[in-house]
Amino acid sequence: MKQVRKGFPKDFLWGGAVAANQCEGAWKEAGKGMSTADIHPYLPNLNRKELDFNHLDSETFYRFKDNEEYYYPNHKGVEFYHRYKEYFALLHEMGFTCFRMSIAWTRIFPNGDEKEPNVEGLKHYHEVFQELKKYGIEPIVTMSHYEMPLHLVEKYNGWSSRELVDLFVKYCEVLLKEYKDEVTYWIVINQINLIQYECFGSLGILKDKTENYLQAQYQGIHHQFVASAKVVELARTINPNFKMGTMLADCIINPFTCHPKDVELAMRRNRMQYFFGDVQILGEYPQFAIQYFNENNIHLDIQATDLELIKKHTVDFLCVSYYYSRCVSHEKNGMDAADTVDNPYLKANEWGWAINPQGLYCTMSQYWDRYHIPMMIGENGFGYVDVLEEDHSVHDDYRIDYLGKHIRALQMAIEDGADIFAYCSWAPFDIISAGTAEISKRYGYIYVDYDDYGKGSGALYKKDSFYWYKKVIETNGESLSDVFL
Ligand code: BG6
Repeated sequence: MKQVRKGFPKDFLWGGAVAANQCEGAWKEAGKGMSTADIHPYLPNLNRKELDFNHLDSETFYRFKDNEEYYYPNHKGVEFYHRYKEYFALLHEMGFTCFRMSIAWTRIFPNGDEKEPNVEGLKHYHEVFQELKKYGIEPIVTMSHYEMPLHLVEKYNGWSSRELVDLFVKYCEVLLKEYKDEVTYWIVINQINLIQYECFGSLGILKDKTENYLQAQYQGIHHQFVASAKVVELARTINPNFKMGTMLADCIINPFTCHPKDVELAMRRNRMQYFFGDVQILGEYPQFAIQYFNENNIHLDIQATDLELIKKHTVDFLCVSYYYSRCVSHEKNGMDAADTVDNPYLKANEWGWAINPQGLYCTMSQYWDRYHIPMMIGENGFGYVDVLEEDHSVHDDYRIDYLGKHIRALQMAIEDGADIFAYCSWAPFDIISAGTAEISKRYGYIYVDYDDYGKGSGALYKKDSFYWYKKVIETNGESLSDVFL
């Protein structure tokens, strides 16, 4: 007989998440090569509809590739590469028990197709893991978070080429062997489903270099599925204790109205998001995806051996990132995941990201009902232009409100049965935005004193949310018992 559940599990992991390219800086140090993230400049007046960094063509690519006219914030990041010890000391003070981070592919294989890995890069991450160990913080490591070697874009047109499979597997094999005693939790690819939003970052495909861009994207995804399955297969032989995960950015949406056509469209759209999880967790291409490809002139090169690999080597856990929710209307939207309408019942931040904690409860419950495997929140946070007061305090009650409600929503999903083992907010200290390359879209509990041009003292200041999250961790979430959604 099942018992009534209350609160978070005893051994729940509390932490935060970052990506190497958004915080490390040191973009050319210690043998690091150039990555897709290194060509994203800060362009304050950019009209993102006219110049979309998520879908690049060759002309734009070469315009931004290492052009001295522009400032590239992540070349400096928040100097995490050199200052990780300072950051970890503060995370430890907050009581962190886990930390989600990524390894930069370009520190290990600067061009992506070298024979031997870069020893200096390997050494650096050993030092980082040792420092985490000192504090008893569990690393959760993403192998690829929006920074494939630029050379692979130029030579192979990114993941559209099957050759990427072996190159990526080789890189992952090096990581699994090298860090087999230091890392247990691995996430192979960040937000594998976000092809319409962050296509260039995740797939490295230049759209003018293919005849059928949508087909090239799904072919790239297929190659990532095959590569991930091979990585999982290898992981089992290297260390049977490894926990191998995949990651979805939550794109589960609501119908704009109860009009049956809105409801149908939302259901069809949601299925094409579940598609990614279905392949990697259930081990098969679902029939609805095959129908969708056929209707959309998408013809994939899928080999029988690929399907065997996908079937055999499914993942152990699902990592989900959740920020906001959207709606679809049959009158305005089609099947493209980025094509949505706003929910009139929700307030949004300056970047239009609508706040919806109930959405987190619904989404985690739905993933649980469909997959029944352990899950974690790998990203959840509130970007805001914080104000640093003269006494160096930051009163970010809006962030506390957002996070408190979302963590409560997570608790509700856990109490209803979902097996969720970790919560990582994005990002524990201010870092460079992936979408807009600015630092002023701040997420941290720790304020990093740099502006969008990397100017400032670089000092680290504790925001009000720092003390708040410390209490949440100390009480294993009980301090939120008076938070209602
Ligand atoms: C996620 C990415 O989609 O969103 C992160 O995995 C990113 O890399 C985060 O930083 C927040 O987006 P942004 O554009 O505010 O940095």
